[in-house]
Amino acid sequence: MCGIMGYIGSGNAVPLILDGLARLEYRGYDSAGIAILQGNEIQVRKKEGRLSGLIEAIGQPPAADLGIGHTRWATHGIPSDRNAHPHQSCDERIALVHNGILENYMALKKELCEEGHRFKSETDTEVIVHLIEKYYQDDLEAAVREALTHMQGSYAIAVISRDEPQKLIAAKKDSPLIIGLGEGENYVASDIPAILHKTDQVYILQDEELAVLTADRVAITDFSSAPVEREIFKVTWDPVSAEKGGYEHFMLKEIHEQPRVLTETLRGMIGEDGSVDMSGSGAEHLLREVKKIYIVACGTAYHAGLIGRYAIEKLARIPVEADIASEFRYRDVLWQPQTLMIVISQSGETADTLAALREAHRHGVPVLAVTNVVGSSVAREADAVIYTHAGPEIAVASTKAYISQILVMYLLALQLARPRPEAGDGIRRLSAELLKLPAQVEAVLKQEAQVKALAQKYQDVQSTFFLGRGLDFAVAMEGALKLKEISYVHAEAYAAGELKHGPLALIDHGVPVLALITQSHLVDKSISNIKEVKARGAVVIAICPGNLAGACAECDEQILLPDIDDFLSPLAAVVPLQLFAYYMAVFRQADVDKPKNLAKSVTVE
Ligand code: M6R
Repeated sequence: MCGIMGYIGSGNAVPLILDGLARLEYRGYDSAGIAILQGNEIQVRKKEGRLSGLIEAIGQPPAADLGIGHTRWATHGIPSDRNAHPHQSCDERIALVHNGILENYMALKKELCEEGHRFKSETDTEVIVHLIEKYYQDDLEAAVREALTHMQGSYAIAVISRDEPQKLIAAKKDSPLIIGLGEGENYVASDIPAILHKTDQVYILQDEELAVLTADRVAITDFSSAPVEREIFKVTWDPVSAEKGGYEHFMLKEIHEQPRVLTETLRGMIGEDGSVDMSGSGAEHLLREVKKIYIVACGTAYHAGLIGRYAIEKLARIPVEADIASEFRYRDVLWQPQTLMIVISQSGETADTLAALREAHRHGVPVLAVTNVVGSSVAREADAVIYTHAGPEIAVASTKAYISQILVMYLLALQLARPRPEAGDGIRRLSAELLKLPAQVEAVLKQEAQVKALAQKYQDVQSTFFLGRGLDFAVAMEGALKLKEISYVHAEAYAAGELKHGPLALIDHGVPVLALITQSHLVDKSISNIKEVKARGAVVIAICPGNLAGACAECDEQILLPDIDDFLSPLAAVVPLQLFAYYMAVFRQADVDKPKNLAKSVTVE
């Protein structure tokens, strides 16, 4: 995730900014840069790669009392020196750093280019600094305010101008930004760890607020210029928990980030008619006249692919095979014309997934990548990419990347269904339902205490089963993987109807069975399976929406989901399973973020 650090005051801006950025390194980034005011010039240094490369390029830090710095996690444009922030106006009078995604950057860029602005990068961010330049008439604050009225999307920005050396301007919407208060100096940062070693007194900016920082003062206003009285927040976290946003582990932080991740991934994907429209994604050309799809991935990403298979076959009526990459690469596939391969990979570096991609290319089959990392191997080699916008995932166990992957699967299914006239109403209805997802996932997160209590109760079990039918089976597989991966409890996922063909022999007194029951049309069948396991002494924990609670009454425990469309239920149903795995691992004193024997990115076969 991008990091922002800005400084104004009597100290030396350069080491203070670089130190702040170093404290944000744990968030992940691919390039870094700094802009400082020296005399009446803005000096910018930017470097792809680690912060140490930037520090080396700067050498002996020059003196400056105003500056902004940034660590970039690429979203628009590959990681490179050119795309790194800060970006500058044509006349180099203004410099800016930005976190977030500017949705309407293409339209704004076109307009600005026609007006004569010259762009140096491929980023959405550079549009903002040119927009500010366009409105600049010797008043940076006024120009920023005007620019904000034209910006759509999420942003946290910090801006300086060589003509106003006593001022640093910050503004935000849907992306975090805080202000650190010092003695004769003030800071702006995207996150508390950047400044916690300097001050524990902060203002937390709210959406649609703008702050003007000088060395001695911070004035906060809303976007309509009305003054805002903000209480100082005293940070009591130690630096290590501050990195995790106050959560005990990155995994828990990432689970809680999921509503925001869904909002980010949905950005720009719903057209003006209210239905999914991926025409701005650059992938649309691959989605036309497709007759067969292979979805190929590993681990959690494969589980997202299973949901993709259900969704695409149901909505677009195109045959789909979902395959494990390590199997796919060695199987003698019957390639047919008009086939598309979709690879899913959080890291974009998984060796087997990359090999499957190359196998498709060897047979002339185009590949669409769904990945979280811009500039990754998968992103570079695929014919088109859809990014998941989950931000860097630090815990080895994938949570927020998974939820964004399954959202992309639904978006793709809806896009592929567009040519079917009979799908029209369904597309519009489901597109509207997608917009409710962030709030619905937020509602599921409110059940955390109940899930934690269940994990505490069952922490000593040896073995667990996860059952489901249809989409619920795909979610059950993900729930079981999460549990075994981080808590080291044996967990098996089974298609509920398959149980009596063998694994039922393992069901014994006290074995927890987590039963996913979200598909109304399959509820009776699922209840029969629950009766089978209960008759053999299993303890059944049902995960079901409120409207099926009555039908699931004979389960021992229930975790209730909000009433969500059956078809989209995996996006909500997986959340309690993630929390269950997390708390089981905590109670069993496992190393949650770094489970034994596992690596975040599997770059070997
Ligand atoms: O980076 P990728 O999405 O390609 O990684 C695939 C799997 O290695 C990954 O999902 C793994 O299963 C996770 N650790 C599961 O939480």
